[in-house]
Amino acid sequence: MFEVIKTEGTARRGRFRCAHGGEVQTPVFMNVGTQGAIKGGIDAFDLKELGCQIELSNTYHLHLRPGDDVVRQMGGLHRFMRWDGPILTDSGGFQVFSLAGLRKITEEGVTFASHLDGHRIFMGPEESMQIQSHLGSDIAMAFDECVENPAQYDYAKASCERTLRWLERCKAEHDRLNALPDTVNPRQMLFGINQGATYRDLRIWHMQQIAKLNCDGYAIGGLAVGEPTEVMYDIIEAVEPYMPKDKPRYLMGVGTPSNIIEGVARGVDFFDCVMPARNARHGKLFTWQGSLNIKNAKYKLDDKPIDPTCDCPVCRRFSRAYLRHLFTAEEMLGMRLAVMHNLYFYNKLTRRIRESLDADCFADFRAEYSQKLG
Ligand code: GUN
Ligand code: ZN
Repeated sequence: MFEVIKTEGTARRGRFRCAHGGEVQTPVFMNVGTQGAIKGGIDAFDLKELGCQIELSNTYHLHLRPGDDVVRQMGGLHRFMRWDGPILTDSGGFQVFSLAGLRKITEEGVTFASHLDGHRIFMGPEESMQIQSHLGSDIAMAFDECVENPAQYDYAKASCERTLRWLERCKAEHDRLNALPDTVNPRQMLFGINQGATYRDLRIWHMQQIAKLNCDGYAIGGLAVGEPTEVMYDIIEAVEPYMPKDKPRYLMGVGTPSNIIEGVARGVDFFDCVMPARNARHGKLFTWQGSLNIKNAKYKLDDKPIDPTCDCPVCRRFSRAYLRHLFTAEEMLGMRLAVMHNLYFYNKLTRRIRESLDADCFADFRAEYSQKLG
């Protein structure tokens, strides 16, 4: 179930419901727990405290370890990781291309070498759907090919035509799996993924084709993979008019706080990115005045919280001086606290975007923060 509550220009304020948890308020940031855990030692209970509405995990990683059969036998991913809210699983389409070793793409699917031990694995649309069905996520992503930019036109064209054929196979397999008597989550949804590199004609053609397949939502993939930011914005603007108005829209793997504000302005509802957790692990912390590096010597005796305007569990308790000490001493706690603050910041960012849409002043919010937050 998805409903747009109100709009401001192309920006949308909506609500979404799936098999787990209450209503998800959009625009929303999905917190990334690739292997069923958020990097930095954050568990499902922390996620609640950080304002997380929906968690994202990866088909590729969980298939390799512990194995999707293990997760299924443990009752599905929600029960395994003790997270009762919504879960979206990415299909493996991206990770196979970004992480795996030598790979061979055919019409059937992709043969690749595991990044863990190099053993050969085959994954195609049916396998990806079967794994995601075993995980029991609320939203399964279609198995796609994400082409790195810049891409040759002919290659991008052949690739997005194949991704369309793969989506048709995903849909058929997904319907079959949901109807089986012992399916972990029979109400699992399927989102299609738009591809076409940086070519507007391919993007639009592909979006028109996948829109006909009546998926539960639509993602824009293959962006933030080498092209300039302005090109990414142009592609979103080109595709948006062809995305169904009554379905959720998800911009995959994006991005900076500014990218999120600009994505919302262009009609996107869902985002995910490893950036807040990854930056935190390197001491780079987001604040409403811009980012800072907590390892900097100037924080040695700074008794202020990371961000004096932040009400996260970390800023309510600890000083910059203490955090800097934890990073210098390489205490695990330093990373955990830093990740907590950054995830809280991203969840708060989308919350403030929603509040500005509710108050018809998203344009003002965008003008104030899009540049400043970076
Ligand atoms: N994550 C970021 N970009 C992509 C993409 O193009 N496809 C998939 N499946 N996942 C992604
Ligand atoms: Zn904070």
